[in-house]
Amino acid sequence: MADPVHEVERAIAAWTDRKQPFVTLAYAQTLDGTIAVHPNEGLGISCPETKRLTHQLRSRHDGILVGVGTVLADNPKLTARRVGGPHPTPIILDSRLRTQPTARVLEHPKPPIIFAAEDADDEREAELVLSGARVERIPRADEGLDLAAMLARLRDLGFQSVMVEGGAYVLTSFLREQLAQWAVITLAPYLVGGYSALRGLVTDREPPPQRLDAYPRLEPAQWRPYGRDMVVWGPLAWA
Ligand SMILES: NC(=O)c1ccc[n+]([C@@H]2O[C@H](COP(=O)([O-])OP(=O)(O)OC[C@H]3O[C@@H](n4cnc5c(N)ncnc54)[C@H](OP(=O)(O)O)[C@@H]3O)[C@@H](O)[C@H]2O)c1
Repeated sequence: MADPVHEVERAIAAWTDRKQPFVTLAYAQTLDGTIAVHPNEGLGISCPETKRLTHQLRSRHDGILVGVGTVLADNPKLTARRVGGPHPTPIILDSRLRTQPTARVLEHPKPPIIFAAEDADDEREAELVLSGARVERIPRADEGLDLAAMLARLRDLGFQSVMVEGGAYVLTSFLREQLAQWAVITLAPYLVGGYSALRGLVTDREPPPQRLDAYPRLEPAQWRPYGRDMVVWGPLAWA
């Protein structure tokens, strides 16, 4: 049976781009695209089989990236503990250094990297460094931190691959800027009508295109059941 873990591993091994690491978007949503009821709370969406898959995928990437919204809402550990590692390095997009010095991710076996804006508070940086983080300053872009600059820094630090887990702001930014190569999306057979995984992806054209082929897609897409969930994966293709 086709296996997203082996396939993503092969794609990472073949990645030779010097500008950025290979980026996989990997997240779980309900059938209607919900990733949470409210953005400030977590909603356990994955079943045991897809939770394990997530940890397998984490263990195949050098870094695991989330936005500070996810750190504040879920307080995740970002390890690959369900499969015994290896653990990817946690990476947090946090322009204003809102990550709490008590966040669980700071107890990770690998020191997390927090990307912050150049004007973020120095005292807050000192606190987070004392709690085990490495803080990297990068420029801001139109919406949040400059993702291309962040990825270039990670490449310079030796990262070959990064898995991006969320939340919605971060997933949307990577898709808008076409900076991801693959996606592995878990679909749980529930309907919630909550906080969506994605916002508008084509923002530079008014009105937004009415043709499906103007939007990013998985090509070729593959899918298979994992426990009660369905997993869809493949390389991302752009209009
Ligand atoms: N189901 C799943 O798989 C899954 C996975 C992860 C999260 N979640 C859920 O998602 C929710 C949190 O998502 P969220 O959308 O509120 O927050 P998020 O995407 O985790 O974080 C967004 C924040 O990251 C910072 N950021 C810095 N640079 C950015 C950039 N270039 N693009 C985007 N963000 C950037 C911004 O904060 P600053 O302006 O302060 O820098 C921004 O507000 C929670 O409810 C969580 O449970 C679900």
